[in-house]
Amino acid sequence: MATTPHSTGSIFFASPVSSTAPVIGLHNLRKVFGYGDTAMAALDGVDLTIERGEFVAIMGPSGCGKTTLLNMLGLLDQSTDGEYILNGRNVARIRSTRKARIRNREIGFVFQNFNLIEKLNILNNVTLPLTYQRGLNFRHQQKASQLLKNFGLQNREYYMPYQLSGGQTQRVAIARALVNNPSIILADEPTGNLDSKNSEIIMDELTRIHREGNTILMVTHNPDLLSYASRVIHMKDGRIVKDIELTENRAHSIANKFISRRKAARKRRGTRRFVRGKK
Ligand SMILES: Nc1ncnc2c1ncn2[C@@H]1O[C@H](COP(=O)(O)OP(=O)(O)OP(=O)(O)O)[C@@H](O)[C@H]1O
Ligand SMILES: [Mg+2]
Repeated sequence: MATTPHSTGSIFFASPVSSTAPVIGLHNLRKVFGYGDTAMAALDGVDLTIERGEFVAIMGPSGCGKTTLLNMLGLLDQSTDGEYILNGRNVARIRSTRKARIRNREIGFVFQNFNLIEKLNILNNVTLPLTYQRGLNFRHQQKASQLLKNFGLQNREYYMPYQLSGGQTQRVAIARALVNNPSIILADEPTGNLDSKNSEIIMDELTRIHREGNTILMVTHNPDLLSYASRVIHMKDGRIVKDIELTENRAHSIANKFISRRKAARKRRGTRRFVRGKK
């Protein structure tokens, strides 16, 4: 069992939590959007246990509830029903100020749409989570600067977000998620906009953080990334429909299956286009 190097020091987490307790436990979690006839369950009874130090990939078709699930796990949204046990405590119904405090100390979030602050330069965007905790100081900026360097962005510190490419923006968003050493990283398609070289930089950094004993949940559509994960969860219509521990071989064979399914679908689409074109 991996141990976390992360020390929270918060009042909320002051009592020692057993290292064998799961870091995350969801019981029959539901999230319904809309009311009456338009109500729609984005999460429809999710049960999930994540142990400390796992690297979980979350896959599933568009609209199946992956981002909604990460938002719940990251305490960014309130569930409609069910239990969320984070580090041994039920956090489903706690006050939003407390949620914000836990989120700041424990959780690093890489959003699908980046969410950088347009009016702050890159360095200040990355420093922001540290500023929330303890005010701005030089050491925080040094730390943010080092992370930006790890991601090859040392020459972009004083750029504004609109001056970056999609891939650079994504790397900044990841640096920001990691700057306060969170023990849980929630990443929504962190390599979605990146070419293979930049994807590798990000995945290497996530692997390093995982090796230090931290827990990672990563939404991805890319089967190649399964080789980094220790477990893969498949979602469909707001539910978990498959949950598989990954050995190296297994990750390989699942990835191959995905790739050949994708190829077959592409071929079918090509054939249909060809037939339509002939008419
Ligand atoms: N704020 C909202 N209000 C209403 N419906 C929402 C809201 N957020 C999400 N949904 C609906 O919940 C469902 C799940 O959305 P979610 O964003 O979790 O999907 P996803 O699996 O992340 O998809 P993708 O792979 O395209 O990112 C979708 O049908 C979506 O339309
Ligand atoms: Mg999504």
